[in-house]
Amino acid sequence: MSFRWLADQGILPQSKRLNHRSACPLCFSPMKRNNWIGRNALEKWIVALSGVVLAGGLEAANIATVLKSLDPASSKVTDSDTTHEINGIVSARATLQDGSVLAYVQAPGEAAVPVHFAKADAAKVVVRNELSLSGKLGTGPMGFGALIAREGAVTVNATNRAFGASEPRGASFFKDALPLANKYVQLTNVSFVAPRFDGSGKAVVRGDSGEVTLVLPRTLRDRDVPPGQVNVFGIPLKVSGEWQLMASRFLSANNKASIALASKHTCMTCHNPDIKAVGPALRDVAARYKDAPDARAILMVQVMNGGSGKWGTVPMPALGAKIPPAERDLLIDWVYGYRWDAILSE
Ligand code: HEC
Repeated sequence: MSFRWLADQGILPQSKRLNHRSACPLCFSPMKRNNWIGRNALEKWIVALSGVVLAGGLEAANIATVLKSLDPASSKVTDSDTTHEINGIVSARATLQDGSVLAYVQAPGEAAVPVHFAKADAAKVVVRNELSLSGKLGTGPMGFGALIAREGAVTVNATNRAFGASEPRGASFFKDALPLANKYVQLTNVSFVAPRFDGSGKAVVRGDSGEVTLVLPRTLRDRDVPPGQVNVFGIPLKVSGEWQLMASRFLSANNKASIALASKHTCMTCHNPDIKAVGPALRDVAARYKDAPDARAILMVQVMNGGSGKWGTVPMPALGAKIPPAERDLLIDWVYGYRWDAILSE
């Protein structure tokens, strides 16, 4: 599952074996996966490494059982008496007006269950945290059934876990996204309508024949939106009759091309966007400088001169002189684009 998820983001090579979940009743037609980058010996090594880091350890959760108590068409709760104990990974979250959190929790590759968390537990509910929690089903804060997590019953088992593959979908599909409810999807090739986030917890993106409203953390305010064509990852949900997307990750639609460029310039031999390798995970780098006005300049200095001491004792070689200036700029934009992961987790 971990591999499939990483390959899905254009991060790791896709193997044939992982292409199709024929036995899974929750999945759709096989996904189109044809343009991932070529592999070399080191990428294979990273695949092996990430397997050690991400696979195993996650106990079978009974999220599927919980979902059976939610009517798929109406999202009404059919059983509100049973206390469910679940273990799963946060795939998307939104902070509500009162500070409580609506989040989707899932086991890798499975459907996700909406969970409503009290404000006191909000800090634990970070996208890609693996949680254990208990609660009963009830009517959630958006008017549909959700597992209401018992306050204080939430514990964090691990952070930065992978949570399954996404289905690529265009905006036109969102007119009736019912078949996608509770699935982790990728809304492809959209652009933001307004130039900045306003703290309303919403933003509109425009894609092929349609606009989709994103549900976002309210902390996302006074920031520029990601520029250009973007792929937005998250969970579709129906809010007052309209299908919206609770977003958990923005990646440039050029991400795969950027990874190919980074491979060409050897960055991928030491870096992975999500996982620490020889060098730091790029999402951690971008998160550290997410509020620094001169972030791009700082990152450029590293690419030009290399250096050590910021993330550990291993040095990074000076590579910049060998890279054409326009490509250096593209690489910096790409690395810094991973800051959205941190910002969306707030
Ligand atoms: C030989 C391994 C290696 C290669 C190749 C490599 N890096 Fe690094 N990179 C590192 C290490 C190690 C660090 C951490 C250095 C430190 O602790 O200061 C790092 C740190 C960074 C940082 C963080 C800088 C900061 O200020 O915090 C950025 C950005 C970065 N690398 C980008 C790149 C890019 C872009 C490429 C390709 C052009 C690349 N790296 C290639 C090993 C590498």
